[in-house]
Amino acid sequence: MSVSVRLRNSPINSPKSSPCTSPRFLHKHPRSPAARRSIMPVVVIHGGAAVVSPDKVQLKLEGVKRAANIGYEVLQSSNGTALDAVEAAVKVMEDDPVFNAGFGASLTLTEKIELDALIMEGTRMKAGAVAGVSKVANPVTLSRHIMEKSEHVLMIGDGAHKFADEVGMPATKPEALVTEYACERLNYFKSFMTAVNSGMGKSSDHDTVGAVAVDSAGHVACATSTGGITAKQEGRVGDSPCVGSGGFADDFIGAVSTTGHGEAIMRVCLARHITGLMQQGMKAQEAAVAGLEYMKNRVQGYGGVVVVSNKGDIGVHFTTECMAWAYRKGSVVHYGIQPDDDLTEDGSSDSSPL
Ligand code: GLY
Repeated sequence: MSVSVRLRNSPINSPKSSPCTSPRFLHKHPRSPAARRSIMPVVVIHGGAAVVSPDKVQLKLEGVKRAANIGYEVLQSSNGTALDAVEAAVKVMEDDPVFNAGFGASLTLTEKIELDALIMEGTRMKAGAVAGVSKVANPVTLSRHIMEKSEHVLMIGDGAHKFADEVGMPATKPEALVTEYACERLNYFKSFMTAVNSGMGKSSDHDTVGAVAVDSAGHVACATSTGGITAKQEGRVGDSPCVGSGGFADDFIGAVSTTGHGEAIMRVCLARHITGLMQQGMKAQEAAVAGLEYMKNRVQGYGGVVVVSNKGDIGVHFTTECMAWAYRKGSVVHYGIQPDDDLTEDGSSDSSPL
């Protein structure tokens, strides 16, 4: 009788010859020297997919350019990471009343502030998010604290406020975040519709702000922040704080931040959908277009996205009338707000805070 014995170190059991470790199945980790050789750090910003009234166009453009410059400077600083860059960029827009996030956020039908935000990093795919908060001026920073200092991903309302207090974030009075423009917008919507129930399709306000970045080590991150849709019902949470909908980051692929009709974005998991298309081989721009087309055709939803691949390939696209966007590469800032815009200017002199 012959017995066949597989020796411990026989070729068939050796890790070197396992099918799973065959070179065919090995992905290069994005941090490997070969993978990061040619990455030029970049941060890409959006200031919300929406209809933008002519008097706000310039203000929005200035705001996204400022955010792109500040994010870029963080990336250039000695220890600046993609995660630091997206947080810094989104904070700039949360503090700027022209955007629907933080100070100046849209109001609920009952005239309340309820803010949502998300931050995610692509190395360990850690994420932090908040929904329905009203007592923090920078929900993106609270999201980062949740990601780094709690066991959780998403916190809401008063629990999130308590956590903000525990980590030493100063409490803000909700009224301090309300602007005259947000009240005007609410009154306008109230006069003839309630936003969420009226099928906020192409022609309404979605706003939201967001940023994606890749740093020179090939790490990616995303951040998104919003007051949600004007005249939303109290307690309504949109896509922005939901991983895979409002944003997604994976160092093996890239990062996405979304804006638009939250109910539609959530139903197609837009940010994860776009990274899935990139995983199948699409470039960032192609995937941005295909993802938004899918959302339009499948659930009749409109919006916009900014995308960056782990190699620094950029995508910017929107299916609404406007979306302010900007990114800086080297000393040049690219920006736009109408479809097909690609304006440029020297960004090296503009990084002053508001
Ligand atoms: N996309 C933001 C929201 O619908 O809340």
